[in-house]
Amino acid sequence: MTRAIPVGLGGRAYEVLVGRDLLDQAGARIAPFLKRPRTAVVSDETVWRLHGERLTAALTAAGIEAHPVIVAPGEQTKSFEGLADVTDRLLALELDRGDIVTAFGGGVVGDLAGFAAAVYKRGIDFVQIPTTLLAQVDSSVGGKTAIDTPRGKNLVGAFHQPRLVLADLSVLDTLSEREMRAGYAEVIKYGLLGDRDFFEWLEANGGKVLTREPGALAHAVARSIEMKAEIVAEDEREQGRRALLNLGHTFAHALEAETGYGATLLHGEAVGVGQALAFRFSAELGLCSGQDAERATRGIAAAGLPVRLAETPGHPFDAGRLVHHMAQDKKAEGGKLTFILARGLGRAFTARDVDAEAVRRFLVAEGARG
Ligand code: GLY
Repeated sequence: MTRAIPVGLGGRAYEVLVGRDLLDQAGARIAPFLKRPRTAVVSDETVWRLHGERLTAALTAAGIEAHPVIVAPGEQTKSFEGLADVTDRLLALELDRGDIVTAFGGGVVGDLAGFAAAVYKRGIDFVQIPTTLLAQVDSSVGGKTAIDTPRGKNLVGAFHQPRLVLADLSVLDTLSEREMRAGYAEVIKYGLLGDRDFFEWLEANGGKVLTREPGALAHAVARSIEMKAEIVAEDEREQGRRALLNLGHTFAHALEAETGYGATLLHGEAVGVGQALAFRFSAELGLCSGQDAERATRGIAAAGLPVRLAETPGHPFDAGRLVHHMAQDKKAEGGKLTFILARGLGRAFTARDVDAEAVRRFLVAEGARG
């Protein structure tokens, strides 16, 4: 069964389709958005090796020429150099304003191809075909596109909404268990930030999601996307509620900055421990019960994600350095730290003016060096 989840953005509204084997329908699904039968497919070497033939066959079957633009896998591709390379190759293909780019890969490819589409000839349309759990439930939906600079992640980018997202659950079959766990951190995030029932469903069914039991996986992906779509429709530019999607991310980004944004600590793993820290910090500040913080921690740990600094690659961390990274974070305003904290399971809110010294003390109590 294919589910269509609308992202209600007026004239820029689009659908996220969730189901198995959507890749084989990609040509027919994308065709309505094309002015002429061709698309540049931006992908990385790994995804292209695994699934490129299947996508090409689906596009060809619909009479669409697929022009692969293959990049190296990994975060380093999301750079000015990577952007220059992709846009140059789009120019060489003579893509014009009526053509579309197909982003076929995980978060790195989606962010890079989306940003290239946003700036290429002042903006052309693009379609997302996310191939990781994390990209399906988070980064492919909502139009955030960006590259990194030596000063930090996602610092140069644009809001550029896709015309269509195809979340094919069958491509998750080839994902490693580690990548599944990392994506699961963003799935459980939706429960923790705003849907206690979904969190409780994950407490009972998270194992089935991780082993890719079809019904459980489909429900988890669809419910996550539904929540993201609803939040994005309400607050596309992150002036308010969309910030809740950053639950756990202030801690996570600081840990990633210390571990080099790579394979040592995957983004999803950092988000796992980051959310556990955000809940325990909320309990420490008297905002939520210790019981809820413990339950959030257990729910994340059950997926095999780190929930304590001591079990997070990169340990021991220096509390002062972590707080320094947080202060550099683009969410920090006027020297104050902004965190997404929680009043309970499913009840996240944005806390501004969080005292940096309180964060430092909390991190030391959690096992960071003082
Ligand atoms: N990944 C957070 C957002 O899309 O707002």
